[in-house]
Amino acid sequence: MVGPSGEDKFDLIVIGAGPGGYVAAIRAAQLGMKTACIERDVRPGGVCLNVGCIPSKALLESTEYYRLARDGLGEHAIHAKDVSIDLAALMERKERIVSGLTDNVGKLMEQSGVRLIRGSARIISGEEIEVLDPGQAIASKRYGAGALLLATGSEPVPLPFLPFDGELVVSSTEALKFESAPRRLGVVGGGYIGLELGSVWSRLGSEVTVIEALPRIATTLDGQVGRLLERMLRREGFNFRLLTKLTGAEKVEDGVRLFLDSNGGREEAEFDRVLVAVGRRPLTGGLGLDEIGIRLDPRGFVTVDENYRTNIPGVYAIGDLIPGPMLAHKASAEGRAAVERLAGLAGEVNYDAIASVIYTSPEAASVGKTEEELKNLGADYRSAVYPFSGTGRARCLGQTDGFVKILAHRRSGRVLGVHIIGPRASELIAECVVAVELHASVKDLSHIIHAHPTLSEAVRESAAMLLSPPK
Ligand code: NAI
Repeated sequence: MVGPSGEDKFDLIVIGAGPGGYVAAIRAAQLGMKTACIERDVRPGGVCLNVGCIPSKALLESTEYYRLARDGLGEHAIHAKDVSIDLAALMERKERIVSGLTDNVGKLMEQSGVRLIRGSARIISGEEIEVLDPGQAIASKRYGAGALLLATGSEPVPLPFLPFDGELVVSSTEALKFESAPRRLGVVGGGYIGLELGSVWSRLGSEVTVIEALPRIATTLDGQVGRLLERMLRREGFNFRLLTKLTGAEKVEDGVRLFLDSNGGREEAEFDRVLVAVGRRPLTGGLGLDEIGIRLDPRGFVTVDENYRTNIPGVYAIGDLIPGPMLAHKASAEGRAAVERLAGLAGEVNYDAIASVIYTSPEAASVGKTEEELKNLGADYRSAVYPFSGTGRARCLGQTDGFVKILAHRRSGRVLGVHIIGPRASELIAECVVAVELHASVKDLSHIIHAHPTLSEAVRESAAMLLSPPK
């Protein structure tokens, strides 16, 4: 065992080079800290860049063009014949996007002066870690640090009676690289991953059935948005089995048989492949957290205070490891804030102003409270819904399904939540995040001049609907 020498001692060691870790490491280096980032994967970027947000969006964009070319352009008087798609080339494009971005992250870290060290880290104490070099199974090296930042992210949760086998029963990682579209794809879990990857394979020809234990899909969405999304996805070809529990499974000759319990009725359904997307859990195994006594909550998340400090002095944690939405941009914001606080600055994350987006067709995006949450809080609010069909731009696009829903405080008009379903909702939500972040009112939003004709006019119109004096 080699102990840390001068060059192997850092002000900060970040464990994990995902959107939480690499952003934190770069910020630390900018603030003058001697920083290292440990990553066990060959490429930096974490789940998001390698097997999450980016490859899934690459596939979603390509398959949406395919779907439109095949059967969505009649509205524009375009009738394409013999539209085909080359799945292998599609996958290569996705890989090129991923490797381009991960290369950039590596370069950015290098240019910022962050030392990227490849290997699996284990914490020895608040000041020291051991890194197992992946090339040399036994050799390990120790590194010293003034502070440690844990940013190892999360992993898919397996079902006890339906473990992942990477072939028939898969997680999102394998569902990003099927070599052909399964004829019948079963998706367990109607959340972000189930709906996005279900969309990809549905567009590529799979018969997709989503099995969801709760009465609705995407339960974090505002109910009105969730209901329209369900209708639209059914129209796209999805089968939804809501209020349906999976009680067992067995492998059969040509796939997997699932045993379902729906309102007390027992049924069976067979699929060629099954994607299990019932959530993710913090990735803490092998880090040595137990050995040094880092406190976890009952669900396995690392417990931190408002400065992202764990109970062990000098050890900090961010991102999917700690409670809160499991989103890349939340992890990056926490990474920046944790490091800034470590440097004595006033880094902060506004948890009320974090957008979330489901990249289905149509997209669904939101920020702030849902109507259900406001009702539960007993809030005094008003809501307005403005349909995209009311905007010239959506009509020209031929995409008029959906709306912008604004929830605002009844008396002050302060924007409490915005929920958008429709074309480019993922981009439109940015303005609404600014509104929530700056405590804007519907008066402010409706006063802002939006270019005409744009989809963003639906945001202004929705805000303007709330300008009349409260009743
Ligand atoms: P999720 O938490 O979004 O959805 C899981 C769904 O599975 C829930 O609706 C739940 O009721 C259901 N479920 C759980 N156990 C079940 C069972 N035994 N039978 C039937 N249904 C069951 O989790 P998901 O989709 O796996 O995504 C994990 C995380 O990844 C999410 O928290 C999300 O934040 C993140 N993510 C974000 C994306 C984005 O921002 N666009 C895209 C993909 C993932």
